[in-house]
Amino acid sequence: MNPAFQATQVSNRVYWVGAIDWAIRDFHGYSTGRGTTYNAYLVLADKITLIDTVKAPFREEMLSRIASVVEPEKIDYIVSNHSEMDHSGSLPEVIRAVRPERVFASTIGAKTLNEHFSAGVDVGTVKDGETLSLGNMNLKCFETRMLHWPDSMISYLAEEEVLFSQDGFGMHLASGERFADELDKGVLEEEAAKYFANILMPYAPLVTKLLDRLGVLGVPVKVLAPDHGPIWRRDIERVLGYYGTWAKQAPARKAVVVYDTMWQSTALMARTIGEGLTAGNVHARLLPLGSSHRSDVVTELLDAGALLVGSPTMNNHMFPTVADCLTYLKGLKPANLIGAAFGSYGWSGEAIGHILDELAGMKIRIVGEGLKVKYVPDAGALDRCRSLGMQVAEELGKVCT
Ligand code: FEO
Repeated sequence: MNPAFQATQVSNRVYWVGAIDWAIRDFHGYSTGRGTTYNAYLVLADKITLIDTVKAPFREEMLSRIASVVEPEKIDYIVSNHSEMDHSGSLPEVIRAVRPERVFASTIGAKTLNEHFSAGVDVGTVKDGETLSLGNMNLKCFETRMLHWPDSMISYLAEEEVLFSQDGFGMHLASGERFADELDKGVLEEEAAKYFANILMPYAPLVTKLLDRLGVLGVPVKVLAPDHGPIWRRDIERVLGYYGTWAKQAPARKAVVVYDTMWQSTALMARTIGEGLTAGNVHARLLPLGSSHRSDVVTELLDAGALLVGSPTMNNHMFPTVADCLTYLKGLKPANLIGAAFGSYGWSGEAIGHILDELAGMKIRIVGEGLKVKYVPDAGALDRCRSLGMQVAEELGKVCT
């Protein structure tokens, strides 16, 4: 009888043996409307090697896919490129089931795996640039510290020109198809951008360094095999090009206006600011937080030049949805933005000052002094909103090439 889950051949001696998570909709605060995959790869070298594992609840699915190619007990090596639990969660159980000869990780990865699994995992280490012999094949390992964890590394199977890029170049997208060229290009670009913005944005300068390093090494890549989403066997230059562009975060004539509202006054301000931005030839993207997820806000910022944040004042503070969004954005360190704050208030209006403090903490250059309107904006207040939009557009014009 065939195993319930089957492997997919990726190259001559490499198979995808991961798992598809059709159900996940929240990935540590990131909305994953299209689900995800946890990719693991089996290399049928003299030393049969498993590259990464899957999230713990998907262990049996992975073992079933492995069994469609080879008995899992025949695995000699397991290489852990990254110890975050979506890739290592099943590792202790897989080790118990498979009893491999060795488990390998980066130096920091070995430490991290043992810190995660207090039962202890006997892990051999590979250094940056070191080649792990699989007998008739060679797996070269490169540390990619802080892309996006301290332990992260990528590995390259020279004989088949397959780059196991771990979280890099991945996306959260569940699909029955395994290869990017079988999927809609618009969806791929959207999900790849969302992944970059929500996972890799804080480390954008390191992405640039990694792309430079791969270029210097002249490593030919026939297959780009990430740990999430589809595998790239065509258009690899295109996805590398996207990363090059996103990592620069060059300001563009696009402004993200993110806000929440209590009695529609702050919403009216936001819409009027949007009119001013449009009049100033800036693409305005209004994201009311009642219907917009924080992870979509940061994705919109990837190709924007301005962030305008609006909140009513409630009990002397900004709205909780606005605080949530700003906390999330602050951690992701969007760069090269100008910004502004606005909102209506009834009694004291502290929210605008708090937003300005947060934007300054994100190294965002502030335009204006924060636009406060008491209760409902009248014609004069709406004129000031429109002017703020036009002022931001003018400042954007000075920094956009
Ligand atoms: Fe997909 Fe950083 O784990």
